[in-house]
Amino acid sequence: MTDSEPEFVHRFVPGSRPGSVPLLLLHGTGGNEDDLISLGQTLAPGSPLLSPRGQVLENGMPRFFRRLAEGVFDLEDLRFRARQLAEFLARARERYELGEIPPIAVGFSNGANIAAALLLLHPGSLSAAMLLRPMVPLVPDSLPALHDVRVLIAAGRVDPIVTSAQSQALADLLEKAGAEVTFQWSNAGHGLTLEDLEAGERWMETITAAR
Ligand code: MLT
Repeated sequence: MTDSEPEFVHRFVPGSRPGSVPLLLLHGTGGNEDDLISLGQTLAPGSPLLSPRGQVLENGMPRFFRRLAEGVFDLEDLRFRARQLAEFLARARERYELGEIPPIAVGFSNGANIAAALLLLHPGSLSAAMLLRPMVPLVPDSLPALHDVRVLIAAGRVDPIVTSAQSQALADLLEKAGAEVTFQWSNAGHGLTLEDLEAGERWMETITAAR
């Protein structure tokens, strides 16, 4: 951590199920560290939950990295913020004694995009990721090795922000890196629906059953 960058504001909810893998909860634009706590509790009851707040402010709305326009990302800032988040994660795993297995990210929209950036730029930092309405955040110079990593991509068929081509391009990129990608199409826009939640629960069960 540099002197000019304060520690992430975050919430930590200790686990009540011994040995459970922690979730890293990453909110969407304008959200905060409280937003996904109840989703995390539903998806993985008893797991430790770590929920940071994005450090970039866009007209007062927290985000995890800067954008130049809708869907046009500031790639230099994205790389910088992804490294900051990976370093925070490493510190938090030690501080909260979160065990050997890296967290499972659950990210929505901008939070899904920074989670995808963590997978692509800092591959050891997550053991799995549930990406709700993600885009391709960036294409790395060289592909990481994601052979042990499972990813759920939950896309909306009528999402006005993320095209189906973008969702598919992210799945292709992660698969090319070796990740095991499950794709879920919902009859939905950018907002989450019950269909996403049910698919998320099913996917999370496969992850926890595999441990
Ligand atoms: C958002 O509004 O958060 C975008 O659709 C995704 C992003 O900017 O990362």
